[in-house]
Amino acid sequence: MTYDFDTQIDRRNTGSNKWSKYPADVLPMWVADMDFSAAPPIVAAITERLQHPVFGYCSAKPELREQIVADMQAKYGWTISAEDIVFLPGVEPGFNMAIKALLKPGQTLAIQTPIYRPILMAPRHWELSQVDLRVDLPVAEQRSSLALADAVLLCNPHNPTGKVYRRDDLLALAEATGDKPIISDEIHCELLYDGRRHIPIASLDPSVAQRTITLMSAAKTYNIPGLKAGFAIVTDTALREHFNASRLGMVDSVNILGLEASLAAFRDCADWRDDAVAYLQENRDYLAKAVAERLPGVRMEAPEGTYLAWLDCSALGLADPQSYFVEHARVAFSAGSDFGARYNQFVRLNFGCTRQTLVEAVDRLASTPAFAGGR
Ligand SMILES: Cc1ncc(COP(=O)(O)O)c(C=O)c1O
Repeated sequence: MTYDFDTQIDRRNTGSNKWSKYPADVLPMWVADMDFSAAPPIVAAITERLQHPVFGYCSAKPELREQIVADMQAKYGWTISAEDIVFLPGVEPGFNMAIKALLKPGQTLAIQTPIYRPILMAPRHWELSQVDLRVDLPVAEQRSSLALADAVLLCNPHNPTGKVYRRDDLLALAEATGDKPIISDEIHCELLYDGRRHIPIASLDPSVAQRTITLMSAAKTYNIPGLKAGFAIVTDTALREHFNASRLGMVDSVNILGLEASLAAFRDCADWRDDAVAYLQENRDYLAKAVAERLPGVRMEAPEGTYLAWLDCSALGLADPQSYFVEHARVAFSAGSDFGARYNQFVRLNFGCTRQTLVEAVDRLASTPAFAGGR
């Protein structure tokens, strides 16, 4: 491994959401960013841009568009054109724009549950009905739910379970949705374990691409979410125009440093990414073993992608596992109820941290009355 992911970087007093929400003695393992420094080419690209002292409104350079086109071909065998790409300040505004473009109030959106909170909230924002797709069941068994929906918002790789949809699942989804639109949040697509390969649903077939808005970003994989840059790929010209028109004065252009960082990430950081994924996979394996051996009553399925683990704490009989762990272990996870009302016995653990932090978190958990007896 060339890069160092073991050094503990003090993130307090840097404006970090993750590190400022809880008191100093609490280990934060909630919001989805990692505690690693960005890859050196990203830091260099930003530093170089700062040497030019004018920071006016900006657009993506042709070089970034060409890089993304080449990446889609090389990584996924997906042929797109430079003009198919729409740059956005984030994936979250992207899926809200897509919903606005595709659906009218009163229509029905299918979402997976449990699900990342801003996706869970989206049907309510846009006055839509919601139909749930179960992440733990094959898509082929959920045709009747899909039949009720006017569009699907897919999150793949999936937050919070780390599930990576296989080709047969994606084909079943494409088939079951007929000609209905698909919004596909693929923000975690380069964080896959055990040699898995990501498949953008739009890459299955040009007819699927034609009705799909794909959302991606360098933010998660290269750990630059604070730079606020992402993009949509919309191959159908009319749909792309409609999507762009849904900015409605609320979705602005992209931060200039975010664009520079994205280009450096995609062009120059493949080796850093591979090292990061290898390190995260070891974190995942450590955690899965530690949960099985030291946290009896907690169930965890090893995530196939993402740096998120979804822990089922139902057997512990706690009123509120998230608050319990903050209070007794001084470790802060995301509360399961954020991902759907039914999941209040779950927590989401972010293992995008140094091994030392992860080991410390497990030690703290294991010594609480929930596991050490005497509760
Ligand atoms: C599935 C998913 N989509 C979107 C986002 C947010 O992306 P952005 O910060 O680019 O809006 C996250 C962040 O955690 C996420 O996990």
